[in-house]
Amino acid sequence: MLSKKMEQELNEQINKEMYSAYLYMSMSAHSTNTGLPGFANWFMVQYHEEMEHAMKIYDYVNDQGGKVKLKAIDEPLSTFKDAMDMFQKTLKHEQFITKSINELVDLAIKEKDHATQIFLQWFVTEQIEEEGNDNDIIAKLKLAGDKGNGLFMIDKELGARVYTLPAESTE
Ligand code: FEO
Repeated sequence: MLSKKMEQELNEQINKEMYSAYLYMSMSAHSTNTGLPGFANWFMVQYHEEMEHAMKIYDYVNDQGGKVKLKAIDEPLSTFKDAMDMFQKTLKHEQFITKSINELVDLAIKEKDHATQIFLQWFVTEQIEEEGNDNDIIAKLKLAGDKGNGLFMIDKELGARVYTLPAESTE
């Protein structure tokens, strides 16, 4: 069973994950628009992952007998300076999400809510991977340059990213 406070904060996190999906969808559209199909693919895969994160929390709140309350999703940015700008903004956003997940864990510890603590561990691990991916791509953009041949090569690499459906959805 969830406390009212925990239910409210998990609902906030659903909204943050939905906003993340919206932001990366916007970056995907911008990438398509600026001739970067590989970046567009990468951000669209990220969009699907964020929707999956939102749904994980949605299912958890329901499973715990809580009430899911959906809120309005803020309008994301729609223009970006270049590929580096998109990834710097992605990293900054993921750092914000990591902080938000950590605060949820703090609340679960404070409330001695062991089920939610265990549930959130998946998100703690996921955030390490997400920030790691963003840092890697930023490093590549710094190394190869964010224009010309270097950018073309990175675009090709990001075009190979494939979204894998979560196990429970493949049945
Ligand atoms: Fe759902 Fe990108 O964290």
